[in-house]
Amino acid sequence: QVIRREDYTAPAFLIETVELVFDLDREATTVTSRLSFKANPDRATGAGDQVVLDGEDMKLLSVAIDGTALAASDYQVDATSLKFNAPSDQFVVEIQTRISPVNNTRLEGLYVSQSAYCTQCEAEGFRRITYFQDRPDVMATYRVTINAPRDSCPVLLSNGNLVSSTDLDDGRHQAVWDDPFPKPCYLFALVAGDLACVEDSFNTMTGRDVALRIFVEHGNEDSCDYAMDSLKRAMKWDEDVYGLEYDLDLFNIVAVSDFNMGAMENKSLNVFNAKYILAKSDTATDTDFELIESIVAHEYFHNWSGNRVTCRDWFQLSLKEGLTVFRDQEFSSDERSRPVQRIKDVQRLRAGQFPEDGGPLAHPVRPDSYMEINNFYTATVYQKGAEVIRMMHTLLGTKGYRKGIDLYFERHDGQAVTCDDFVRAMEDANGVNFDQFRLWYSQSGTPNLVWNGEYDAKQQTYRLTIEQKTEPTPGQVIKSDLQMPIKIGLLGRDGDELLAQTIDLTLGKQEFLFEDIAQEPVVSFNRDFSAPVNVGTTPSHDDLAFLMGNDTDAFNRWEAGQKYASDLLINAVKAFGQSGNADEALGDVDAFCNALRATLTNDDLDKAFRAQAMILPGEAMLSEQLQPADPEAIYQVRQAMRRKIGLSLQDEFEAAYRNNASNDAYSPDATSAGQRALRSVALSYLAATGESVFVDLALEQYRTADNMTDRMTALMVLNDQDHPGRDEALADFESRFASNTVVIDKWFSLQAMSSRTDTLAQVKKLMDHPAFTMRNPNKVRALVGAFAMANQRNFHVADGSGYRFYADRLMELDDLNPQVAARLAAPLGKWRKFDEGRAAKMKAELNRILAKENLSRDLYEIASKSVAE
Ligand code: ARG
Ligand code: ZN
Repeated sequence: QVIRREDYTAPAFLIETVELVFDLDREATTVTSRLSFKANPDRATGAGDQVVLDGEDMKLLSVAIDGTALAASDYQVDATSLKFNAPSDQFVVEIQTRISPVNNTRLEGLYVSQSAYCTQCEAEGFRRITYFQDRPDVMATYRVTINAPRDSCPVLLSNGNLVSSTDLDDGRHQAVWDDPFPKPCYLFALVAGDLACVEDSFNTMTGRDVALRIFVEHGNEDSCDYAMDSLKRAMKWDEDVYGLEYDLDLFNIVAVSDFNMGAMENKSLNVFNAKYILAKSDTATDTDFELIESIVAHEYFHNWSGNRVTCRDWFQLSLKEGLTVFRDQEFSSDERSRPVQRIKDVQRLRAGQFPEDGGPLAHPVRPDSYMEINNFYTATVYQKGAEVIRMMHTLLGTKGYRKGIDLYFERHDGQAVTCDDFVRAMEDANGVNFDQFRLWYSQSGTPNLVWNGEYDAKQQTYRLTIEQKTEPTPGQVIKSDLQMPIKIGLLGRDGDELLAQTIDLTLGKQEFLFEDIAQEPVVSFNRDFSAPVNVGTTPSHDDLAFLMGNDTDAFNRWEAGQKYASDLLINAVKAFGQSGNADEALGDVDAFCNALRATLTNDDLDKAFRAQAMILPGEAMLSEQLQPADPEAIYQVRQAMRRKIGLSLQDEFEAAYRNNASNDAYSPDATSAGQRALRSVALSYLAATGESVFVDLALEQYRTADNMTDRMTALMVLNDQDHPGRDEALADFESRFASNTVVIDKWFSLQAMSSRTDTLAQVKKLMDHPAFTMRNPNKVRALVGAFAMANQRNFHVADGSGYRFYADRLMELDDLNPQVAARLAAPLGKWRKFDEGRAAKMKAELNRILAKENLSRDLYEIASKSVAE
């Protein structure tokens, strides 16, 4: 069943207040709700007076309207709804339901994680708690009463303010919470359990004190400092940069180990996947610290971009997600290195969103239809959505963007609105017309840009011609030309910047003429990745090396290196097909190595940046540029290139390794992290030379590491080796962290990502490890997911055994948690990228999934779209 955006109609009834009473029990929780209904003055004509409420997987105990119980003949219940007739324009409905949190393996609605009860309602989980109009444009104030045993649930939390805490009989107690801000039901949350709490406070810009609490399992109290610090910095940043202040007197975060996604922005009660809260120097890597900072900020920022102003319907998801991702990216840029942050954000877009946009699951930032909305929490809605906001920021400038933001929040506070409303606020505040720009919301596919330059020495002019083209995507054959800001620079051979400008591309083919250009320039195109496009033009190797060393735009310095490396690697993969010899296929790469050397040894550059600049495009990224892609050839050629670089820059890498050792206590700040990153890159290239002394060095680093970053770096090097040190380090890691459920996932992932040819056998064996369970999404993602998503060589072994194993796991998971199963299914949909043999095997697995009994709507949608020719 397909839901379409064009079919939207306003709800016939509004629900203005919700009172909920939970009598918590693991097997049988009773939920009593009291809902005050009012006919919607904006209802579609002829909407009738039948009330239709959503509800799934629960037992209806009773329904009453205005105090009178309904007889069974007065209502209809089926597997997904409850229907009855409205008595008038305003009435109160009381509903009692029974649900079973402990049997809730889907982790949507109310479920049990370890010993605690928690909820996840976005997108449509509230209907698994009680019957309701489960849609974001129905906004109500909530009063929530929680009754639970005092011993097992000393902590009782919901949204808003705590109104009262009372002891009841039988060892039970009660808490009442009241949230004064009207909200859609997807922002409802409840948590109850025996949790430890870490406390702090924040003084807002108007001088109010907000109590900040992070709840974790006992024993983890010492792992919350960084999350708390990130929260306070995010609150301050939102005041400084957006003028947005927090609006309640308390803000709670709860970390749970069983969670479908990263985190959830429930009003004043954010619930997090524990891996994005818990961090200490010996358990979390620099990357983990970075992620924690950005996700804590992301969820906090949703308080305005998502909660105070929410989505009218789920097609508008990017209204809150694209905007909030842009906000968290900018926060991280301000807290850390801006160019390095931009590089990482673009890498993520290219790795996750570009393949989606070019594959069977392509959809616009604002989708037109879906079967299961949970399948649309995608890189397109999030990451491309953020790029669209970023382009508006670029087109309007910081001040103009802020004017638009101010108008947006002023106009729409307390409302459920659309992406179009957001763009209109930007237009109205700035007196601009974004009619063409709006196409970014409706058109899927990544535009391809090709540029051409012509220098006229006599006239001293430079003529730049740009063409754009977007290939057809499933269901959307005709593409229009988009408006986009392209930042460019023209550089003189001496490194002087002759011109830097943002041009406004609107046509399919467009010419720009620059005057007073004294010499033939080198072009730096799409600086800072100002538009989320592919650029088909590859400058000469000389120009790329020049840009690597001289571009005044740091992003494009990195980009030039990536382009140069891609060009060498792609050509070598093609040549490898004939010779079967990776070294020969690569040929002479000295010029490239020299350009890398100049970057590595340039002490004017940030170390984090230099580390990034040394890393070659990944195997998956190279696959995207080949048709068909040969995973084994790509692996061999990339390894050979790494070896050549390691040998050529051995002295410099040895120096970098020595000079970046630190005697100071670990600190997660960006500068220290950059130093560790550079040292890690050095170690990894030294090991790539094949000299066993460097593998010994990695083992030494593993043994003496005093922080998780250094430990993991060493382990990653060892992980691909045939060396007794590998077994030693893996065994040590296992025993050291056996009891830490967040950290042991790193150990599972690492082994799943090993390039060794025994990896699939190891993964199968690890499924029997006592710490592994298919019921915990983090475990599944760490072991099974990492194998398919981050181990191209082994997932795609030619005999198809990787595909078969994976499809079996997806089907097994589908019975427990369809949402997570569907999210993991995309790798099998990449069959078009590969040779006929692999493609046939991948399709066969998709068809096997489609033939499964009781296949969920979630997995059906992904598998059926993926298999379509
Ligand atoms: N709104 C959350 C966030 O981006 C993600 C929740 C996703 N939930 C889901 N069921 N798909 O911060
Ligand atoms: Zn979000």
